[in-house]
Amino acid sequence: MNFPNKLQKKLAVREARAALRKLQTQSNLIDFSSNDYLGFAKSVTIFKSTHQFLMDRKFTENGATGSRLLSGNHILYKEVEAVLAAIHQTESVTIFNSGYDANLGFFASVPQRNDFILYDELIHASIRDGMQLSNAKAYKFEHNNLECLENKIKSVRTDSRISEEEIYVVTEAVFSMDGDIPDLTAMTAICKKHNALLVVDEAHALGVFGTGIIQKLQLEEAVFARIVTFGKGLGCHGAAILGSHKLQQYLVNFARSFIYTTALTPHALATIKMAYKELETSNLEDKLRENIQHFIAESNRLQLDFIKSTSAIHCCVISGNAKVKKIANQLQQKGFDVKPILSPTVLEGEERLRFCLHTYNSKEEITNVLENLVTFVS
Ligand SMILES: Cc1ncc(COP(=O)(O)O)c(C=O)c1O
Repeated sequence: MNFPNKLQKKLAVREARAALRKLQTQSNLIDFSSNDYLGFAKSVTIFKSTHQFLMDRKFTENGATGSRLLSGNHILYKEVEAVLAAIHQTESVTIFNSGYDANLGFFASVPQRNDFILYDELIHASIRDGMQLSNAKAYKFEHNNLECLENKIKSVRTDSRISEEEIYVVTEAVFSMDGDIPDLTAMTAICKKHNALLVVDEAHALGVFGTGIIQKLQLEEAVFARIVTFGKGLGCHGAAILGSHKLQQYLVNFARSFIYTTALTPHALATIKMAYKELETSNLEDKLRENIQHFIAESNRLQLDFIKSTSAIHCCVISGNAKVKKIANQLQQKGFDVKPILSPTVLEGEERLRFCLHTYNSKEEITNVLENLVTFVS
């Protein structure tokens, strides 16, 4: 069977730019790349308690059997969504199969024709894809630049002759490729002043900052929706949109990535429940914070230039796909799983090494990886 020439050409361009993506099996290297910030994906406690919970409740199905609107809405959905609503201090929790699905479903269905979406220029691909499916007009604002955001809000409000338009503002609580955090308090104030609806993706904040940064700042009432994902800090799978009962009713009716897909398995739901229990009872966040502080102190001592971050994600820009790949390879050969982030995932010239920190990284490992990095970048 012939492979279409146009596609072959696109692969060749990727290859020429040293940007061809390839699947690799998991390594046994020291983990500085996974999103398992708290070690929950490896937690025997969560694994065993999930199994016990399913057995005790006699939930023995392997699959969901259908979409949530047909045969797949297992009784555990109601239970887990209720537990999460209490934890996250929100009216409703709507579980999706992944963060990608949640963002796709939300942005494709909620903003309407004649509405506006103002998004941080570094927003995640899942939100971009959702916006592409939306009839609303989408404009970016400069990364974490609140003045720019406010100017954009003013310009779309005055430009528009339509009185009923809504403005949705979207940002991440922790940016996935930079690790930095916007000033969410100021952002909520701007949105309130201009009657805009704020949506915050907490994918890389959940677990790293307790139940999320919005809750840490007690801003629950000031946001229209929060997206939390379970595949990162919680070490399992799935995601949820937190918001009002009305928002849940709307999503169930109009979010196509919610409607037209097989639901999560009972096992996946039980794991989410157990992961939240672990989050509430363990104080792993403090251990992670210690490692983050150590990483920052050591990178300062070694005069390494990292993007400023207090989250579990720390990035060192090394321009050029070939160069950043080479240094990542050198670190991997020394036993450290550090991944290069290439263009087009990030802008050309902004390629970087991305270090994800975990509770289970030792201080020595952190010092060692940074000392090795110094030798490779100098
Ligand atoms: C900011 C952000 N939102 C959403 C997602 C998608 O979440 P999931 O991996 O659950 O599909 C990711 C994952 O890469 C992310 O970084």
